[in-house]
Amino acid sequence: MTIDLSDKYKPFFKQFLAHIAPYEIVLYGGAMYSGKTRWLCADIIRRAIDYPGSQAAIIRRNMPSLKRSTLRTFLQLIDDRIIRRFNQQDMYIEFKNGSIVFFMEANEQKDPEFFKFGGVELSFLGIDEAQEVSEKALLALLPKLRHLPRGYKHREDLPPNFFRVNLTANPAPGWVKEKFVDNPVTENSIYIAATVFDHPYAPKGWLEKQKKIFGGNEVLWRRFILGDWSVVYDESAWLLFDPKWIEESLVDEDDEQEGDNDIWLGIDIARVRDKTVIAKMRGNRLIGFETYMNVRADDIINIIKRKINDDGVLPGHIAIDAIGIGASIIDMLEGEGYEVLRFFAGRKPLDTGEIREKLGAENEIEFANLRAQAFWMLSRSFQNGEIEIVKTIDELDFLKNELLAIKYKGERRIQIEDKEKIRSALGRSPDYLDAFVMAYFAKYLSNEIKSLVVL
Ligand SMILES: Nc1ncnc2c1ncn2[C@@H]1O[C@H](COP(=O)(O)OP(=O)(O)OP(=O)(O)O)[C@@H](O)[C@H]1O
Ligand SMILES: [Mg+2]
Repeated sequence: MTIDLSDKYKPFFKQFLAHIAPYEIVLYGGAMYSGKTRWLCADIIRRAIDYPGSQAAIIRRNMPSLKRSTLRTFLQLIDDRIIRRFNQQDMYIEFKNGSIVFFMEANEQKDPEFFKFGGVELSFLGIDEAQEVSEKALLALLPKLRHLPRGYKHREDLPPNFFRVNLTANPAPGWVKEKFVDNPVTENSIYIAATVFDHPYAPKGWLEKQKKIFGGNEVLWRRFILGDWSVVYDESAWLLFDPKWIEESLVDEDDEQEGDNDIWLGIDIARVRDKTVIAKMRGNRLIGFETYMNVRADDIINIIKRKINDDGVLPGHIAIDAIGIGASIIDMLEGEGYEVLRFFAGRKPLDTGEIREKLGAENEIEFANLRAQAFWMLSRSFQNGEIEIVKTIDELDFLKNELLAIKYKGERRIQIEDKEKIRSALGRSPDYLDAFVMAYFAKYLSNEIKSLVVL
């Protein structure tokens, strides 16, 4: 049976090259938005159709990002003509011809030995965003490439290069670069470079918009837009937030209006002639900002009291920047019986069981101060696909621009670049991000207080 995918997908030239490349391992890697994921999914679908009874796995570091991004692309390419069922419980898709595609996460932090892959046998393997996955995962999976499709009894009967590994990646330091990009052709592997200019269907204005978000950072531009691997060790690319994580955190809307007990606010208080910003989260989802220009301390106090009394936000869910005017605002609120949370950037980091558990294997890391810890944890939550950002937020491009301006130093002891430097790079203060970090970190602050009360 041959079903043409062409109404859903017509590869452009680079994608075509990557499809036909006669190698066991093909890395199609480089720029963001250059059609890599679509290539990976289409390639596996094509093979699953051509070889009834074959088995494939599509892998990413985390299930949430896999579902939000890779799987969505996959589903756009198929329909009921070829699919028997999609088992969302066990995350696999069965084709009418008996082929199966499994969707799996490969997170070394959760499953260091990749026991999860124990029983699988595969014909084809796709790892999307391979730079986020450890090399160990690929090494654990390569020997699993031994599943024969229907009608084949012996490996020797299969066509050459039947077993196939498709990798996609964005430029990043690590094994993908060392193994494949730095050795672009070997006996069994090839690296094909992806750039945005290969993509004839990219929407107009996309590049212009990216330029703004990247804020004139040449190194970032080369790395993520031009797909240039040579800059990944450049210090100015030591980003705390990968642009990909930000893109993949975006959700269409705040669909759960219930769960108001899970609302968290972070409040960045105005300095001189500055703005006050309130970030609002529902659980780990950023749902909006409010901006107030030129307001005085008592206006801010009234705004906060309204949030508590009219909107029902718990005072213990509101984190306020405790430097300068913020400190006196917190004191005044406390004087009136509102026990809000104090986010004091320069204090020592929190040391709670919750934080140690959250950091997992990274719990040995030290932080220069609370600010460094809060930023680091937010970055980890982004990487793990736990953060969601509602994409209709008006200030989204400002927030992206601020996230991409944050750099860090240190491996054992993390330090975030100081605010003055960030301010001069951005040409303004990162007010939206500061409010967001506080809203995100509020629950850890509130749990610290609870754990102290229990003691
Ligand atoms: N052959 C094609 N024909 C039409 N549209 C395409 C094609 N390939 C990719 N696209 C579209 O281009 C956009 C980017 O594709 P895709 O998500 O595959 O890129 P990517 O390189 O994986 O990006 P990212 O780095 O963000 O993961 C998507 O909207 C996708 O639908
Ligand atoms: Mg992709």
